[in-house]
Amino acid sequence: MTTTLITGGTVVSATGRAPADVLIDGEKIRAVLAPGSTLLGHDLTASVDTVVDATGKYVIPGGIDAHTHMELPFGGTAASDTFETGTRAAAWGGTTTIIDFAVQKYGERVQDGLAAWHAKAAGNCAIDYGFHQIIGGVDDDSLSAMRGLLDEGVSSFKLFMAYPGVFYSDDAQILKAMQVSRDTGLLTMMHAENGPAIDVLAQQLVDAGKTDPYYHGIARAWQMEEEATHRAIMLADLTGAPLYVVHVSAKQAVEQLAGARDRGQNVFGETCPQYLYLSLEEQLGAPGFEGAKWVCSTPLRSRAEGHQNAMWQALRTNDLQMVSTDHCPFCMKDQKELGLGDFRKIPNGIGSVEHRMDLMYQGVVTGEITLERWVELTSTTPARMFGLYGTKGVIQPGADGDVVVYDPNGHTSIGYDKTHHMNMDHSAWEGFEIDGHVDTVIARGRVIVDGGRYLGSKGDGRYVKRGLSQYLI
Ligand code: URP
Ligand code: ZN
Ligand code: ZN
Repeated sequence: MTTTLITGGTVVSATGRAPADVLIDGEKIRAVLAPGSTLLGHDLTASVDTVVDATGKYVIPGGIDAHTHMELPFGGTAASDTFETGTRAAAWGGTTTIIDFAVQKYGERVQDGLAAWHAKAAGNCAIDYGFHQIIGGVDDDSLSAMRGLLDEGVSSFKLFMAYPGVFYSDDAQILKAMQVSRDTGLLTMMHAENGPAIDVLAQQLVDAGKTDPYYHGIARAWQMEEEATHRAIMLADLTGAPLYVVHVSAKQAVEQLAGARDRGQNVFGETCPQYLYLSLEEQLGAPGFEGAKWVCSTPLRSRAEGHQNAMWQALRTNDLQMVSTDHCPFCMKDQKELGLGDFRKIPNGIGSVEHRMDLMYQGVVTGEITLERWVELTSTTPARMFGLYGTKGVIQPGADGDVVVYDPNGHTSIGYDKTHHMNMDHSAWEGFEIDGHVDTVIARGRVIVDGGRYLGSKGDGRYVKRGLSQYLI
């Protein structure tokens, strides 16, 4: 059992900040102490195994990225990060827990889909991991299996109103799954886009010769997201299911969520860094096939229409509660290139798991959110939303020793493929400059990143069973 003392820093939580030292004993936080505290008159720094000097730096709970897709089969290929490469990249960026999506495909048993994800992750992860369950085929068998998910530590499932023929559920299936959500407390996570209508628009665009990546964003118009978000809210209201809408990007979808919350409905929404910083015009509309790097769903939205500013505002007003990455990386070569000449064949997804903490910290620097809200959006609320709070998402005695030392005077330049650790041949974030730096990452008491060196090992991360959301009413 090693002991670690983090000294001289400012501990930041979702509710405040204060100078304090943090003592980690083995895997757990033992104490949060007044700076320079002694133990029976002895200098604590002399009695611990490791001292981390955090003078002038922020000490925050490790990031929790509640939306990742390691190794996800999609569009005739699979997301390029394995659990090994993706969780190591996450660690580099100050994320100490991910919640990935186990997949039940149509015709497959839910239990088998979950077991397959355990097999992919076990022994390979750098940081702790949990699972949501994608239900790709709602039928009597899967509805019954869903009732056993909580026993497996899976307290949320995702349905898709998009991707007909792949993961899509129709309204009747959604209604039945939401009834299980109401009965069990499992949180319904929804990909809210009108997939059948989008497919018609996409076909018409391709028929008209409009095949560039930009048209991915035109086919997946904001009306498709607003309509599906509204429908999901109505079905949740009818059934009494708690609802969490993933990767919200349209300001009109936020308005739907805000309206439902104002009416007292138990609905929540996350957005992702790409919807805060990137746009239809600048990235998806990049010359030639370049825009393929940013093909994801929901799509990047028009800056002229003000979606990005609306997302920041919703994070300030709590109309959106969390920021996850929806990390789903694909290389340009052999993967995104599958859609040369037809944007429908470009695998959907962006890789960001390494950059979420930095990108959101930049929002503190530019005055979009406060320091405390940064911690709340990236760690504390994800823990509370997905049944990990107390063990994760907070620096307090008894919590896991998941701690990040963040240097507000440091700097992070995101370049092409050599300046990050994700298994990609490019970066969707090339050229971004961050006025801060992840210095030290401690995961369950082990220093795994320090001063630009990776000190962890494959298999450090463990599966975490999750309980019900704290936001159930
Ligand atoms: O483009 C995305 N979002 N790819 C991952 C799958 C999903 O819908 O979350
Ligand atoms: Zn989705
Ligand atoms: Zn996703």
